[in-house]
Amino acid sequence: MTSLSELTITINSKYKKNKKKGAIGSLGKKAGHIPGRQKIDNIISMNQGKPGSLLAILEQVQGQNKHNYLPEETLYYISDTLHIPRSQVFSVVTFYSFFNLTPQGKHTVTICRGTACHAQGSKKILSVVSSYFGLSLQEIEEGTPVTTPDYFFTVKTVACFGQCAVAPVIEIDNNMYNNVTEEQLKIILEEIKK
Ligand code: FES
Repeated sequence: MTSLSELTITINSKYKKNKKKGAIGSLGKKAGHIPGRQKIDNIISMNQGKPGSLLAILEQVQGQNKHNYLPEETLYYISDTLHIPRSQVFSVVTFYSFFNLTPQGKHTVTICRGTACHAQGSKKILSVVSSYFGLSLQEIEEGTPVTTPDYFFTVKTVACFGQCAVAPVIEIDNNMYNNVTEEQLKIILEEIKK
């Protein structure tokens, strides 16, 4: 079982990695204009003081965002309002994969890039997906979720879905697809686009 100190080290290293990648700006910056501030205030007042309130607040604030993400200014605002250090807030949102720091598309395509899926052609799957949407293969491969300009699709990768026996595996909008071939993938994407 992971000890608290190990968890803290993991969180901090994830935070530093995201900071280096530019996903996180300066923690000293002041919170500026906050879109939907009234809704955020309501969420904070409904949850403040309850156990696990930070997680609940972040989850609900992200849920009411049009593009399902937590803008940097919003995180500053939550941090300032709750009097929680910004580093702690950013550590939480970078530790849990369900938090998004960039705008997300209406549909999400997640491609497994683990060893088993790689051996079964996941790189080709990724390449088909990136060219289908006209997105940068390199950017996706670096682990950054990439969204189409019309916010219709977000493409991202995962280290392993835990379904290695049926590789390659992809997930589209919470539906898993096993033993995926290029042909099947194109049919699925065409269906979603309709
Ligand atoms: S490596 Fe892809 S599911 Fe495990």
